[in-house]
Amino acid sequence: MIKPEAIRQDFPIFVHHPTLAYLDNAATTQKPESVIEGIADFYRKENANIHRGVYPLAAAATEKYEKVRHIVAEFIGASSFKSIVYSSGTTASINLVVQSFLEKRLNSGDEVLISAMEHHANLIPWQMLCKKKDARLIIIPVDKNGEIDMMAFKDRLSSRTKMLALTHISNTLGSINPIEEIIELAHQRAIPVLIDGAQSVAHYPIDVSALDCDFFVFSAHKCFGPTGVGILYGKEEHLREMEPVVFGGDMIREVSYENSSFTTYPQRFEAGTTNIAGIVGLGYAIEYLQKYNKAEILQYLTQLSEYAHQELESVDGLEIIGKAGAKSAILSFAFENIHPHDVATFLGTENIAVRAGHHCTQPLMDFFNIPGTSRASFTFYNTFEEVDRMVKVLKEMKQFLS
Ligand code: ALA
Repeated sequence: MIKPEAIRQDFPIFVHHPTLAYLDNAATTQKPESVIEGIADFYRKENANIHRGVYPLAAAATEKYEKVRHIVAEFIGASSFKSIVYSSGTTASINLVVQSFLEKRLNSGDEVLISAMEHHANLIPWQMLCKKKDARLIIIPVDKNGEIDMMAFKDRLSSRTKMLALTHISNTLGSINPIEEIIELAHQRAIPVLIDGAQSVAHYPIDVSALDCDFFVFSAHKCFGPTGVGILYGKEEHLREMEPVVFGGDMIREVSYENSSFTTYPQRFEAGTTNIAGIVGLGYAIEYLQKYNKAEILQYLTQLSEYAHQELESVDGLEIIGKAGAKSAILSFAFENIHPHDVATFLGTENIAVRAGHHCTQPLMDFFNIPGTSRASFTFYNTFEEVDRMVKVLKEMKQFLS
């Protein structure tokens, strides 16, 4: 059983901010002591550059760094550690797929399909490539509840579609998309699929092999790891044929003044010195998460989220934005005459942290005809009492401003 009060003990931020209700986990999660200490300890006791030295310290650092590929592969159900590319985050992982995988396949008149609820990181890179190639970015609409319109999706699949990129869970609405069905439908037409797992990987069981997605991307910092580290999972058949797009040290085979050849994947996509300690930290974050049963985490978050929905609905004038049938513990809401930033500022004065704004999904906000939302996003160290605190302050705010 999940005991949030006990889990909080693992997170030093709550020692330093004992009254903090941190409800902004979709933006970044807090870090457990084992991750913070693991990174510090790496610098203290194990630091050396990887792949470059033959002395024992460097060999040990390399081994530790490479071991994380195996940890990540197992965590997301990849059949080989060679499918795991380190990046600086979800955004960099998507840009790599755009530039290295799709660019050479996309021609004038072709189409790239994304949904209306994509984060800008899973929109702009495709949009820029489409402009460059005179191709079209096609949007799968969502309905007023924030669910993908499956009929429209099927209608938009065509022989011109060269790629589908879709978020697993909307960072703004919390909608959980039916990615299994969507991947299967795309694959029936041999369309490769990238899944943005930034909001799902911490709490949902992920099995990229069962999903059969072509690419899966996520960031370490949204699953209790450090910032500046991300993962690109790619099917080996794709990574094998992808050319590097960033060049430099550690990704080469041979270099002369005239020519260079490159090492094999995944290292060929990791030019320069990567965030070694951060990647080590990701390993610790996954090990931390694996101490808990994901099904139990999910069960707890479902209860917490249902409670938050129910309580928020009791606040006069509050509208919940995003009412998908399948929803994660991300909860956006808006008031007709109060700007989301004012709501978040009000909550902030009581040490309750929520994010406010467009959440890097401006077109989606346009669809809902609102400037933005306030968003509470939960994880397993959040409590029912924090929900009560948030709701109480919102009620006070409403009274104060009316
Ligand atoms: N993508 C992150 C969020 O939704 C930053 O807050």
